Amino acid sequence: MQRYTTLILAGLVIVLAALLAGTLIFVNNQPVQQRAIQPLAEVAAMEPDSSKWGVNFPNQYASFLKTRDNNIATTYGGSSDFSHLEKDPRQKILFAGMPFSKDYNEDRGHEWALTDVNKTKRLNLDKENPKRTPGTCYSCKSANMPGLWAEMGLEGVGKTFFGDLTPRVDSSIGCANCHEPGTMRLIVTNPALEEALQAQGKDWKTFTRQEMRSLVCANCHVEYYFAGESKYLTFPWEKGTKVEEMWEYYTEIGFKDWEYPDTKTPMLKAQHPEYEMYTAGSTHYNAGVACADCHMPYVREGAAKYSSHNIHSPMLNPQRACGQCHTDTEAVVRRVNLIQEQTYKTKIAAEDAIVDAINAIKAAAANPNSDAALLEEARLLHRQAQFYWDYVSAENSMGFHNPEYALKILAEATNLARQAQMKAAQAANDPSLLQTGTYYQSGPSGQ
Ligand code: HEC
Ligand code: HEC
Ligand code: HEC
Ligand code: HEC
Repeated sequence: MQRYTTLILAGLVIVLAALLAGTLIFVNNQPVQQRAIQPLAEVAAMEPDSSKWGVNFPNQYASFLKTRDNNIATTYGGSSDFSHLEKDPRQKILFAGMPFSKDYNEDRGHEWALTDVNKTKRLNLDKENPKRTPGTCYSCKSANMPGLWAEMGLEGVGKTFFGDLTPRVDSSIGCANCHEPGTMRLIVTNPALEEALQAQGKDWKTFTRQEMRSLVCANCHVEYYFAGESKYLTFPWEKGTKVEEMWEYYTEIGFKDWEYPDTKTPMLKAQHPEYEMYTAGSTHYNAGVACADCHMPYVREGAAKYSSHNIHSPMLNPQRACGQCHTDTEAVVRRVNLIQEQTYKTKIAAEDAIVDAINAIKAAAANPNSDAALLEEARLLHRQAQFYWDYVSAENSMGFHNPEYALKILAEATNLARQAQMKAAQAANDPSLLQTGTYYQSGPSGQ
């Protein structure tokens, strides 16, 4: 009996041990819980080659590459690189004496940025010329820049001639302009943005995810200037990001981009202040909507849901871009058309007023008997009028990002231009300089 009991017990122990071993092997061979983002390939910090990131994130990469194929124009924007100067020849007059009067095309997809900066006639590739183009012009065009900034600093890049930087810039905008590899979190990659925020006492590392979904665009879609001899990339945000505050900043530091021929006005060129225009209290911004909500809506492919990196005009896919929040898409599209048409008409009225001011100041400046102090006042009014007009004109949404504010700025620009014209007429004591519509009298090119 005892022998049987021992055998049975031994058998039981063996069976239990086998079960335990089996369980352990089973448990150990279970797949570990899937991480949300599972890196397959290690990507180096600031890696400029987006295809390397694309191995891990094929959907984002594939949608990103589509920005190369977009070519459809919308009424005021879209992805065809039409010439603004041909569409509205007044701008040839307004930008006389500076490179934008030679070449000014509509923006298109991120994959084109590097090609387009290299082919613009605005470049000055004569290395001996004091007005040669600095390396700073690559700042918003390439995924190589975060690495080059880390190596050379903003100052080193600014001091380098554009042509000398060219061999080191081979990628258009890419993942490295917006993401940190590994974590894939959104980051500030442009040191000029970091410094501009610091000057306002802000630290982007404390920003919410939704705020970052707009702030990454501010790496590039902002107003900026090149400060001093080293062409140091600077955002004029110290006093704030509203047009009035930037105007005050530029006035205080006495900055000018160029001098207007014959009137001798010290001029400012506005860049593309999408971020500032949008965040200046627009309805959508106040409601917590981010740039990425309209320009990078979620798409679904099979089981995958991801942010479309095929960034373009939301008017090309309003159902997806606006339809996530607005049920009546047709109605909001009609509203966009109305806003843009009104902004465009108001913008043209401002341009006509500025052209009148320019012609009056030119005549007053050519008159040896003109009052110098009044003439100087006229120039400053022209400077401000044109900066305000350009702030709306160069902003790429034709008013949509902030309709009320855009119209207010344009109304101010027209008012300032008319004052400039009046001052010039007073300076020359010549009432004939008060005539309006001078653009239409001088033929289609205005000159
Ligand atoms: C509520 C939706 C919405 C938000 C939010 C938004 N945009 Fe737009 N954006 C538009 C619309 C609509 C247009 C006009 C497109 C057109 O005219 O074809 C536009 C135009 C643009 C354009 C020019 C596009 C083109 O076709 O040339 C750029 C660049 C742009 N937005 C950048 C931004 C940035 C940067 C932000 C955040 C600071 C932003 N947008 C926030 C809806 C939005
Ligand atoms: C590294 C700089 C950079 C960043 C960051 C950036 N952009 Fe751009 N973006 C550009 C440049 C430059 C162009 C114009 C390229 C051209 O015309 O060749 C452009 C073009 C565009 C266009 C016009 C596309 C078209 O097909 O007409 C839209 C819309 C746009 N950007 C939106 C955004 C949004 C939204 C963000 C943030 C999520 C963003 N961009 C971030 C530099 C940048
Ligand atoms: C112009 C800025 C910009 C560029 C360039 C960019 N991204 Fe993004 N990316 C974003 C934004 C904005 C989001 C949305 C983030 C969020 O919602 O938190 C995002 C989200 C993501 C996500 C998170 C999942 C998702 O789809 O929402 C991944 C992964 C990603 N991007 C990969 C890439 C890859 C790969 C590249 C290069 C091919 C790239 N991104 C280029 C701005 C950018
Ligand atoms: C993430 C959500 C969201 C997206 C995406 C969005 N909107 Fe809106 N939109 C809102 C909210 C919220 C309001 C404010 C509603 C209110 O206050 O009644 C608003 C208001 C508006 C208004 C009225 C604004 C005014 O000042 O009268 C228009 C027009 C509009 N949206 C157009 C658009 C268009 C066009 C798009 C796509 C390009 C779009 N929206 C995308 C959320 C969104």
